[in-house]
Amino acid sequence: MNTSLRNDLPELRRGWHPVMLVKDLGDEPVRVELLGEAWVITRLNGTITAFPDRCPHRNARLSNGKVVNGNLECPYHGWQFNGAGKCEFIPALGEGATLPPTAHLASAARVRVQYDLVWIAPDEPVRDILSIPDWNDSSLRRVWLPPVVMNATAPQFVDNFLDFGHFPFVHAGTFGAGEDASIPPYDVQTSDDGWGFVVDYHHQINNKEDPKVATGEHPLLQPRQMRYEFSAPFTVTLRLVLPVAGTVNHLINFIQPLDANRTCVYTLMLRNDCPTDELAQAAIDYELDVLKEDLSIIEHLWDNVVPLEVGQTHTRADRNTVEFRRIMKRLLDLTR
Ligand code: FES
Ligand code: FE
Repeated sequence: MNTSLRNDLPELRRGWHPVMLVKDLGDEPVRVELLGEAWVITRLNGTITAFPDRCPHRNARLSNGKVVNGNLECPYHGWQFNGAGKCEFIPALGEGATLPPTAHLASAARVRVQYDLVWIAPDEPVRDILSIPDWNDSSLRRVWLPPVVMNATAPQFVDNFLDFGHFPFVHAGTFGAGEDASIPPYDVQTSDDGWGFVVDYHHQINNKEDPKVATGEHPLLQPRQMRYEFSAPFTVTLRLVLPVAGTVNHLINFIQPLDANRTCVYTLMLRNDCPTDELAQAAIDYELDVLKEDLSIIEHLWDNVVPLEVGQTHTRADRNTVEFRRIMKRLLDLTR
């Protein structure tokens, strides 16, 4: 079988996925999309719950309802469901009525709050949410990009983010100009559990973000240490260290496959070079420019899948994106 990775494969239910910023969850239910399905996220009696956004009575959107007495009330006929999804009240039957045993919500997803995001795992996840020690490093400022919705799929975004052969071509307008296009051999270190990997890669770039370049104190061309980390299903990070400038920038992408064609990316930068709001905003603007360059490619690929077996040609420079495919193939095989 020629397996391809898509945004809406049911096998991807076996992973933790970010679905919204926790600051955007107030007292009212919120509809989110994941893997081509709609979920209602609600805070009931202080606990965040995630249920398919469909009432078992007549399929109304529960996310258009409201929270009443710690229950989620459907907007259509007012049925009320508790945090376990059990129906507590059907107004048409009155208080104390015997409720139909099937009047409960479809299976809840597991819910976690981590890295300022609400995460859900519809089925038993193969791996925990990636642990990021830099998150708690007080020397690094947490700088969030606004969430970006793109017309590309999560595997295509990951494939692009892990790829460093495209820098001199796609990023000629930002950091890529003058970069050496050749890629020396590098190693991919797969994690013990087999659901992630790390790649260390050192090269040189034109560091246009270093203010000491303009004053002549630092050279424009500087060594850069890159450490990529991938964690199934779709978390991918890049830790950049520029020893001449003394800067650390840990770029982290938490990725939400919305439907077959669209993806939302929550990008966080943990950096030691943004002490002021102005510098943080400049870093956000710069990163959005870099992202725009990537989107000019990945929003216009041939189709919306990443082939896992045949259909693409790889070279040794693509070792990390080949490992990404191998891990995702393992995830699909697990449930087939
Ligand atoms: Fe929800 Fe009727 S559709 S109560
Ligand atoms: Fe890129």
